[in-house]
Amino acid sequence: MTKIVAGNWKMHHGPAQARDFFRSFVPDLPEEGGPRVLVFPPVIALEAVVGSDDRPDSVGVGVQNVHYEDSGAFTGETSAGMAKEVGATHALIGHSERRHVFGESDEDVRRKVAAVIRNGLVPVVCVGETLEERRGGRLEEVILRQLDAALEVLSGTTAEFLVAYEPVWAIGTGETATPEDASQAHGVLKGRLAESLSSERAGAVPVLYGGSVKPGNARDLMRAPGVDGVLVGGASLDPDQFARICEAGAAAATD
Ligand code: PGA
Repeated sequence: MTKIVAGNWKMHHGPAQARDFFRSFVPDLPEEGGPRVLVFPPVIALEAVVGSDDRPDSVGVGVQNVHYEDSGAFTGETSAGMAKEVGATHALIGHSERRHVFGESDEDVRRKVAAVIRNGLVPVVCVGETLEERRGGRLEEVILRQLDAALEVLSGTTAEFLVAYEPVWAIGTGETATPEDASQAHGVLKGRLAESLSSERAGAVPVLYGGSVKPGNARDLMRAPGVDGVLVGGASLDPDQFARICEAGAAAATD
């Protein structure tokens, strides 16, 4: 099955660097069977990425966060409709930095998912447990609670969406979940999707793994059962490393 390789640039790469990135991003992909590639630049660089002649058309563009209202007195915020207007097709919702650095709650996530689908973007719903929660045996409880908040909105629609499992302890730390850890959590999430959605729809929801994905571990992670692709932070900033992860996605699809 075609894998998905998504790059979350976080607060890196303004417009000029974003354009430079695509001048050097040349993955060596087979004509058929390459991964679906997405990048999530900072909102200020969205237009530069969308308009870059060097960006292959096959590389989709998403926004890292949106506000849950469509407009209003919310200084500093961006609405889903505005992101769509400049050409974004996807939106990360509930990334662990949004939850843990900016205090976003499950209720915020629910409202943001609603705003995203109301405006015709595809949400990528991020879930993940902290080390303390994992050690306390609460992995399932935490990731299912986070997923359920999004499903409250999504189960009543036919909207396309993705889920990203990103254990907080593996993000930006160099600690990666093993392929077995990822498979186990993905199995839990897919079980809940199967309970909440029609079987056809549940089977169509990709679940990505994120957390210290690098060229050296990407293929093993993407060939693990239940892992449909990866969400890459640090290694997506470097065009060469990101290209190698895309190549790993192509290889994993045929493993
Ligand atoms: P990382 O970040 O690859 O730098 O660990 C992943 C993410 O936060 O999406």
